[in-house]
Amino acid sequence: MSFKMVADHAVWPLENDAIFGLAAKAKEAIEKYGKDNVIDSTLGALVDDDGNLICLETVYSELKSLPNADIAAYAQVAGQPDFLEAVQDACFKGYKPDAYIKAVATPGGTGSVRHAIWNYTNPGDSILVCDWFWGPYVTISEEFGRTVTNYELFNDKGEFNIISFKEKFEELLKKQKRLVTIINTPANNPTGYSLSDEEWDEVLNIAKENAKDPENKIIIVVDSAYIDYAGIGNERRKFFTKFSHLPENIFVMVAYSMSKGYTMYGMRSGAAIGISSSEDVANEFYYSAMHANRANWSNGTRAAMSVMTNIAKDPAKTKAYEDEVNSTKTMLRKRADAFVEGAKEAGLEILPYRDGFFVSIPCSNAKKASEELIKENLFVVALKKGLRFAVCAVSEEKCRVSPAKIKRVLDNLK
Ligand SMILES: Cc1ncc(COP(=O)(O)O)c(C=O)c1O
Repeated sequence: MSFKMVADHAVWPLENDAIFGLAAKAKEAIEKYGKDNVIDSTLGALVDDDGNLICLETVYSELKSLPNADIAAYAQVAGQPDFLEAVQDACFKGYKPDAYIKAVATPGGTGSVRHAIWNYTNPGDSILVCDWFWGPYVTISEEFGRTVTNYELFNDKGEFNIISFKEKFEELLKKQKRLVTIINTPANNPTGYSLSDEEWDEVLNIAKENAKDPENKIIIVVDSAYIDYAGIGNERRKFFTKFSHLPENIFVMVAYSMSKGYTMYGMRSGAAIGISSSEDVANEFYYSAMHANRANWSNGTRAAMSVMTNIAKDPAKTKAYEDEVNSTKTMLRKRADAFVEGAKEAGLEILPYRDGFFVSIPCSNAKKASEELIKENLFVVALKKGLRFAVCAVSEEKCRVSPAKIKRVLDNLK
């Protein structure tokens, strides 16, 4: 062991973020070979067909019109009161559960996931997520001395694997008597899968069955980071009403993010939204999350909160913003359709895609495949169980031709 100054719990591998590293390599290739000759499908951000980051005009004209003091001032620790109202409307859009609901502003969805893991698990607990998951769930859990247990996301038919979910859910709950499970839907990162309303019923039935033991504490975190790019209209929000009148030992928390829906990735804003049939449980959530805010980042990004609130208060601005999001959503849908069709034509196996920024390709040698694809100037993220292709960052034309390139490389590796 080499000499260490940091305390034992803070020693981590000396490595940079793999996805950001790959994105930097893709940038270098673009400079060298020109953007037409490189496919950069690394980062989870919306990029137009010319390779420029999409920044919603309605959002940034609002931001730039804010008085300096509204940008500079501290926000309240829990978030500005009007934002805490607006964010609930932005999240539920007409499908608000009939329950006690409280919101606390956080720096992006990451902040809410952090609060869920820290505030609702005990040291050594394991949190439950599917086997196609967003890496920071592990990073955050490790940071706090928690672990992550996986269930299989898909069964043989390519549907939500409720049997695997139930098995792991009950195994952990039996041992821990409390369980945080994070379900990243709609538009899962990295697969693009969204639970159907029937699949949500199955999940909630398992939770309700286990809630009959009053000793059990069940916390369902809905990571809704990509919700604004899912389904037609608000159809992918219907499941929220299922969180009405749940037993009081089932607590639901939505990790809401402004990063994608408002293209405000770097502005760090979102909210933890707690839902309970018990007023006490909802209040307890609020004060616990507010304390955690104060202890970690003190308060959130006031300007980002004002952008959402000001757009929400003005019907014309709301309409303009929604039109912009919808046209981006349509662009994304066309790209994803092109990739899915391209995969079919090339005979490339992909995981079931429903919505959102990413499509995944299952394979056993993802790291090698990613390295080989770099040689072809196609940059795609290697995960443990496959490759993640970011349709959000690649033009429709390139989305159509990429599957054949990937198929060729995977076949050569066999
Ligand atoms: C699955 C998932 N959850 C949550 C987030 C949170 O992002 P942010 O903290 O920027 O809101 C992301 C962003 O990449 C994500 O992919």
